[in-house]
Amino acid sequence: MRRRLAVIAGDGIGPDVVAEALKTLAAVEDVFHVGLDVERLPHGADHYLKTGVTIAPADMQRLGADFDAILLGALGDPRVPGNEHARDILLGMRFQLDLYVNERPARLIHERLTPLKGKTPRDLDLVVFRENTEGLYVSVGGTFKQGTPDEIAIAEELNTRKGVERIIRHAFAWAKEHGKTRVTMADKANAIQAHHLWRRVFEEVGREYPGIQRDTRYIDAMAMDLVRTPESFQVIVTGNLFGDILSDLASMLVGGLGLAPSANRHPGGVTMYEPVHGSAPPLAGKNVANPMAAILTLAMMLADLGAADAGRAVEDAVDAAIGQGVGTADVGGTMGTREVGDWVATRVREARAR
Ligand code: NAD
Ligand code: IPM
Ligand code: MN
Repeated sequence: MRRRLAVIAGDGIGPDVVAEALKTLAAVEDVFHVGLDVERLPHGADHYLKTGVTIAPADMQRLGADFDAILLGALGDPRVPGNEHARDILLGMRFQLDLYVNERPARLIHERLTPLKGKTPRDLDLVVFRENTEGLYVSVGGTFKQGTPDEIAIAEELNTRKGVERIIRHAFAWAKEHGKTRVTMADKANAIQAHHLWRRVFEEVGREYPGIQRDTRYIDAMAMDLVRTPESFQVIVTGNLFGDILSDLASMLVGGLGLAPSANRHPGGVTMYEPVHGSAPPLAGKNVANPMAAILTLAMMLADLGAADAGRAVEDAVDAAIGQGVGTADVGGTMGTREVGDWVATRVREARAR
């Protein structure tokens, strides 16, 4: 059975890294015959500046209905200072397709990649589950008396019982399924009254998982402990904004954004895959961006689509590259974006022989 993949390369380094993910996918198809039909969609800053349309409602609807998976590069362009196209397309997918789970793993491939002295791959293997449809991202609020000394800007943080419960439940279920023994929640219940909802739900849902230890931290201490004792974290669950921040921090502990993949999920529905990093405009088109985050994102997608062996082959190829010092400058290598993609694709093709 053939499946359909929508690809939105997007802005900045998005097209650079997506090209290498698709190069890797071509190698995967040769070896593992996954059977994915790729359709490229034009959405991004160029398309918006040309047409005045960020994304039409019918296109958003199609993304939810017509595809088995979506691969996104990145969105964000200095020519769109208000970032409205990214809000409509990226946050649009998360909200309108109700992709409430943002899964962001951080795994240390090689000890030379971590800035933390003395830490090894055994100490750094965690996943952040970021609530992806609520929190401070909902655009509830507005501005009043804009441009005057009395200007007011309000952004409300939205937390629903349903929204909090489903992400926490997902984190515990994932932990159980993957043999993990602890789930940590980060919140700010000591200052933000509404976060007691998170604490209560965490207790209630956690009690349904007696084999899994419940651990809670305030977000400030969490940021500190991630650096101090990363080995104490296996599964982290948190709200939308805290998850955004913690996932960049976690990525830096294992080699940086150039290695950080993610999946935006609604279990049972379409999943949108994207590297955690943004469009890094200064690097765009220069053959310097690290494509490994996009390639590892592809590996997550392949595993989900039932091609576990293909996903593993892609991940193994990236691990092998890092192990041999192959990579872009951000991971200590000397190669360009395309050369890293070539290396990984060749390695995947060789997986047939192994
Ligand atoms: P960024 O992730 O683009 O860059 C942060 C830093 O990491 C920069 O120093 C950049 O050079 C480096 N970096 C990121 N990806 C890299 C890669 N693959 N290889 C090597 N180095 C890499 O974040 P930013 O600079 O804050 O934002 C730039 C634009 O991207 C903004 O418009 C922002 O809104 C947008 N953005 C989009 C997404 C997304 O589409 N999912 C995510 C984050 C930021
Ligand atoms: C991310 C990005 C986005 C977010 C921005 C571009 C809106 O930083 O995917 O991590 O904050 O979710
Ligand atoms: Mn982010």
